[in-house]
Amino acid sequence: MSVEKSGLWDAKTWQVYKRLLGYSRRYWVMGLVAITGMLLDGGGLAVFTNLLRTMVDDLFVKKDAFLIFWMPIWIIAIFLVRSCGTFASNYGISYIGRHVVQAMQKDVFASYLKLPAAFFGAEPSGQQISRITYTSEQVASAASEAVKSAVTDSFTVVAMLCVMLHNSPYLTLALLVMAPAIALIATIVSRRYRLISRRIQGSMGSVTGTVEESVGAHREVRIYGGQNYEASRFDQVTRQTRGLNLKITATNAASSSTIQLVAALALAALVFLGTRPQVLNSMSPGVFFAVLTAMGTMLPALRRLANVQSHIQRGMSAAEDLFEVIDLPPEIDLGTLELERTRGDIVFRGVTLTYPKSRQQALCGIDLHCMPGTVTALVGRSGSGKSSLVSLLPRFYAPSEGRVMLDGEDYENYTLASLRRQIAWVGQSVVLFDDTVANNIAYGELAGASEADIIAAAEAANAMEFIARMPQGIHTPIGQSGNMLSGGQRQRIAIARAILKNAPILVLDEATSALDTESERLIQQALHGLMRDRTTLVIAHRLSTVEGADQIAVMDHGRIIERGTHAELIALDGQYASLHRMQFHDQTVTQSSD
Ligand SMILES: Nc1ncnc2c1ncn2[C@@H]1O[C@H](COP(=O)(O)OP(=O)(O)O)[C@@H](O)[C@H]1O
Ligand SMILES: [Mg+2]
Repeated sequence: MSVEKSGLWDAKTWQVYKRLLGYSRRYWVMGLVAITGMLLDGGGLAVFTNLLRTMVDDLFVKKDAFLIFWMPIWIIAIFLVRSCGTFASNYGISYIGRHVVQAMQKDVFASYLKLPAAFFGAEPSGQQISRITYTSEQVASAASEAVKSAVTDSFTVVAMLCVMLHNSPYLTLALLVMAPAIALIATIVSRRYRLISRRIQGSMGSVTGTVEESVGAHREVRIYGGQNYEASRFDQVTRQTRGLNLKITATNAASSSTIQLVAALALAALVFLGTRPQVLNSMSPGVFFAVLTAMGTMLPALRRLANVQSHIQRGMSAAEDLFEVIDLPPEIDLGTLELERTRGDIVFRGVTLTYPKSRQQALCGIDLHCMPGTVTALVGRSGSGKSSLVSLLPRFYAPSEGRVMLDGEDYENYTLASLRRQIAWVGQSVVLFDDTVANNIAYGELAGASEADIIAAAEAANAMEFIARMPQGIHTPIGQSGNMLSGGQRQRIAIARAILKNAPILVLDEATSALDTESERLIQQALHGLMRDRTTLVIAHRLSTVEGADQIAVMDHGRIIERGTHAELIALDGQYASLHRMQFHDQTVTQSSD
């Protein structure tokens, strides 16, 4: 098409196109079936149109007895072939399309599983979800439409042109003048289309994100009367999507109606030319009727062909978006050493961390040595960098400066998987999966654990007490993200998971914050048992839970400002001592007011 010259098919587009083709290449057999179907469909139509001349001239005018018998049978035969063709083409195209969608969804999802933590903060989660639910569908539907239209319609156009030429070269050539007009319209449409479809993908993401957020925060919305705000926000994003979709429709509709107008002109020209006295005498009504019908069939096909480019553009910009994510570099994992079981000798040396897109340093010149088998407690105000420091351990983030050493080796030299295998983690916000209690405790690589081990871990985490009361015990499903459980129950399941993992490094980031003092005390005992022979990093607000730690590091504004045992820090009479006094005072006040 003339579009190729307009520069839309630049090198990048070709690359995307070829890559997309790569996804469908192995379904070439089905592709052949589909294309054969399309050709049968278009060919049948052409044969039928050509038959019209015979029908009018010989059947109705001459009343040929042979034709009177055979014509109905031919018609049925032609349309039988056509319907087989239609089925094969529709099913074949869908078959390929669905497979390609699945393959792309799989690739994007795989990429989500290996992208670094920073990626998930950089883009709204709605965008990430809609890439899989919406954008990949766009690729398939657009590509299917495009292929179907490109093959069927271009074949129809050529076939109809043949029918016309076969019947009356004079009329056909006279009508060819309108071809450039149609090409021009196609170019303009495709340009506009590409622009709009890119923006649609973005806005679909905001729709998904807004819904996700409002549904997730349904309690907050009700308590704080956020209905109007959420409604208007939703209204705004859907309005934007509607606007963009209508723009697409308007573009399509405008091109369709313009082409229809061109078609009307052509038909008028046909009637005008066909009724010139010298032509009228030499042309049978059958010829005129056949050319008229062929032309009438060809023009809608041309119109659809003009829109092919727009489908391609839609699919391309969707595919481009998907490929961008698929191509993002995964987490850096250059380490080659396979860590069997670490001694748990952790050293932070001059560690600084600046989060991407943040100007402030979250950690600044951290020096800390966690000896094997000891407990290091991190305390400090919220926002002081405690979670940031421990999130370096599994390499969620890499230190901007300085090094982290494990067993005397720079921890970047270990493979990521083997490093993470050494760490059991109970985080600040517990995330559970929509599965049974047992599968939540024995998650991931722990999946092979025996039921007895799972129950033992749950018991150690003081979780068996509430699990036993559930209808199906440890096989009770706990609903999406465990929202049927209380915060404390969720934490206990997470602790059971960490206990079951039995890893040499244990990280507890406010792991018991959602528990009452009684349960916390019970778990503390279990955790104490667990901490034996392990290197533990524990972050806790209640200082009473960290008093027994081998060393306590007090953090403030990303720095360690005090370090020592409980007794040393109390003797130092600095920040820790004053924090401790405050909490001790609080406790005595609460106790005396009970
Ligand atoms: N993913 C992140 N991206 C950017 N900044 C972050 C991120 N996580 C934490 N921060 C910032 O780093 C600082 C330390 O946070 P954090 O380590 O969570 O503190 P703490 O756990 O002590 O409460 C805070 O100022 C916080 O805003
Ligand atoms: Mg924190």
